[in-house]
Amino acid sequence: MSNHILRCITCKKEFDPKPGLYYCVDCGYIMGTLEVIYDYESIKKESAVKEKKFDKKASMYQFDFLLPAKLKSQLDEYVGGTPLYKFDLLGIKDVLIKYDGSNPSSSYKDRASSIAINRALEEGNDTIFCASTGNAASSLAVLNAHTEMKTSIFVPAAIPAGKLAQLEISGAEVFAVEGTYDEVYDLSLELGLKKGWYCRHAAINPYLLEGKKTGAFEIIIQNDFNIPDYILVGVGDGTVISSLYKGFWEFKEIGLTDKIPKIIGVQAEGIPAIKKVFDKGKPYSTISIHGKTIADSISVGKPRDVIKACTYIDASGGFYITLTDEEILDSITELGKLTGIFAEPAGAVPYGGLKKLIYEEKISKTDTVCLVITGNGLKDIKAVEGVIRTETISTKDLEKRFK
Ligand SMILES: Cc1ncc(COP(=O)(O)O)c(C=O)c1O
Ligand SMILES: [Zn+2]
Repeated sequence: MSNHILRCITCKKEFDPKPGLYYCVDCGYIMGTLEVIYDYESIKKESAVKEKKFDKKASMYQFDFLLPAKLKSQLDEYVGGTPLYKFDLLGIKDVLIKYDGSNPSSSYKDRASSIAINRALEEGNDTIFCASTGNAASSLAVLNAHTEMKTSIFVPAAIPAGKLAQLEISGAEVFAVEGTYDEVYDLSLELGLKKGWYCRHAAINPYLLEGKKTGAFEIIIQNDFNIPDYILVGVGDGTVISSLYKGFWEFKEIGLTDKIPKIIGVQAEGIPAIKKVFDKGKPYSTISIHGKTIADSISVGKPRDVIKACTYIDASGGFYITLTDEEILDSITELGKLTGIFAEPAGAVPYGGLKKLIYEEKISKTDTVCLVITGNGLKDIKAVEGVIRTETISTKDLEKRFK
């Protein structure tokens, strides 16, 4: 028997999970994304919950009483359990940095891919497919490389070389399609579902958010159950940010905490789709805009988790902000110099967001803050080409310099 039910985010209709059920057809695939709901009263009786007994370094599967899948492979044991650093930054003491670039494929997306793979295997699928701005695909390909199940990937042809390399090296079938992520998403969704493949497209698969919410659980346990006032994270389709809210909400619901942080979404000024919907106010609806940004992972004009990303962030008391591409590049280099963390553009935006909010006096130096750094900068070296200034020096000149 399943440990959860599914509930439509818009009409609230409830469904029992079954293979092939991805969204509420009455509401459509963006308005009708599904929430995964557990029996929270019975989870309160779990021994880990009753004793507040968790491991700061264990994989995300230590929270399997709140997950729709169990640990299956040796790789799963290394998904999650990522570092929570503390640095004095921008005048604030002990800014928390949840660094997810240390997952097996170097991004936050491993949390979702691991769950999707385990559910697809459980259902006996022979192929899993995904459209992606890059990280979701590469995490799926990396984590699924060792199974018998085939990986089929659809990405915009312009994705960074590092992410494409991960796909090819992991033996996935790759379609690098001319067009934007939004175009690739819609077309591949239709093609893959027609084939009967298991779908790991953002948002439409409700279980992805379940894996991602473990980032919030880890922030809580690694910070000894002290909940920060603010969480900042980069936003594209809106699943990661929604998952953070759900994670904090669920730990409160099962009595482990009594606070949900204000969650702030950072988008690129060139393509701020969810911010536009959020700022317009309720009732939230779908949007489709064109635009571009250097932060490829959040270059999304038709966000698929827009309804949760607005509803949950409003419930948290948070909001959305934007950064220009120049501010995003500055975020990468400043974060690197101050902490040693090399984040990809979408991963660095929480730092720039914090800087902006301190400047605008929306966050004060006495507030407690956590930045969620979602991806490793080594995947997208091209983005920082312009700031790498080291020149080759001859051995003779080097000796002269040190005279
Ligand atoms: C590194 C990184 N940060 C942030 C995001 C944004 O996540 P979401 O699309 O769920 O909003 C992504 C998504 O691809 C990502 O790869
Ligand atoms: Zn519905």
